Amino acid sequence: MKTSKTNILLLVSLVLAFEFLSVCNGQGTLLKKHFYKKSCPNALAIVETIIAGKVAANPALGAKLLRLHFHDCFVRGCDASVLLDPVGTAQTEKQSIVNTFLSGYDVIDDIKTAVEKACPGVVSCADILALAARDSVSVPFGKPMWDVLLGRRDGNVSLLADTFVQLPAPFSNFTSLETLFASKKLNLNDLVTLSGGHTIGVSHCGSFSNRLANFSSTSNTDPSLDPAYAKFLRKKCPANTNPEVEMDPKSSLSFDNHYYKILLEKKGLFQSDAALLTNRGATKIVKKFTNDKKFFEKFGKSMQKMGAIELLVGKKGEIRKQCRVVNRK
Ligand code: HEM
Ligand SMILES: *[C@@H]1O[C@H](CO)[C@@H](O)[C@H](O)[C@H]1NC(C)=O
Ligand SMILES: *[C@@H]1O[C@H](CO)[C@@H](O)[C@H](O)[C@H]1NC(C)=O
Ligand SMILES: *[C@@H]1O[C@H](CO)[C@@H](O)[C@H](O)[C@H]1NC(C)=O
Repeated sequence: MKTSKTNILLLVSLVLAFEFLSVCNGQGTLLKKHFYKKSCPNALAIVETIIAGKVAANPALGAKLLRLHFHDCFVRGCDASVLLDPVGTAQTEKQSIVNTFLSGYDVIDDIKTAVEKACPGVVSCADILALAARDSVSVPFGKPMWDVLLGRRDGNVSLLADTFVQLPAPFSNFTSLETLFASKKLNLNDLVTLSGGHTIGVSHCGSFSNRLANFSSTSNTDPSLDPAYAKFLRKKCPANTNPEVEMDPKSSLSFDNHYYKILLEKKGLFQSDAALLTNRGATKIVKKFTNDKKFFEKFGKSMQKMGAIELLVGKKGEIRKQCRVVNRK
């Protein structure tokens, strides 16, 4: 009798401890799944419907919106700063060379227009972007692949210069990646898991061509790149051109764990991908994901952490009327 009572007590305190933990796991808890339940009950359905139509017409869109959300969150937090157009001579994030190939802005505009019609001034552009990223990646699965927590507000600052400091570069080494992610409260697990975003989409040759020729004084090609794959890539990237190549060949529209399999074959496209294998802990996680059905679950968790970087919530920031411009005072 006594033991079962103790067991129940133990269970209760465990449950309480768990709830305490989940309430205190950082800024993410400032966000809520049902944030718009009363203020804009149709918001999520509107995003989902528009995205379904757009992805049907363009299956590559998931990669565009996933990257757009990532570039939003890493620079000044998830505040839709990446969506702001320049005003006058002041240059914004989207004009940065590192953001040249971002796209999907028009899709966010279409969603914003529809959502504003349903509930004017309620749903932030930052939340729309987070939902659009999730929904576009989820279309092939016919179900949402992770929960998006909501309640972000939009910022009113966007500076081109921020992009060079706050975003990782394709030539980043492991130390730089780990340090940068840590500065966004993302740990080693998040780094490896979110790098799995490269299981979909394309890259331009210019983002990795330094690995293909004149790489270093001792090696023409990057030794961390499979030689046969380097040859294949050299063919895809003729001199003085900058075409697109699939990041995960033959699987670039399919959101899966294939990225980790080719990474171990030294076929990660960027030095930043290959850099994961220079760290023992990261390599362990890469190996785990090659046969781990938990990749999707972990990806969702890390997306929630990424989606909670440096938030504007409560009375901070604003709900932009148009995603490309700050509201007029
Ligand atoms: C770890 C550091 C990362 C680096 C250095 C990096 C770098 C890059 C670069 C250079 C490109 C190709 C741009 C081009 O030449 O067109 C790219 C594409 C992409 N990245 Fe990353 N990335 C990183 C992390 C992430 C994360 C965390 C995500 C999302 C969770 C992500 C999602 C994507 C996607 C989906 C594309 C393809 C975009 C398209 O198809 O247009 N990346 N990334
Ligand atoms: C990684 O890159 C940074 C920045 O370029 C550099 O300062 C550092 O020395 C590099 N670390 C290693 C281990 O190569
Ligand atoms: C590599 O370096 C050599 C000598 O500097 C140069 O002639 C050649 O064009 C370079 N190749 C590429 C692809 O940059
Ligand atoms: C931008 O936002 C800050 C803080 O929310 C506010 O103090 C400032 O007046 C805003 N600037 C403009 C131009 O709206």
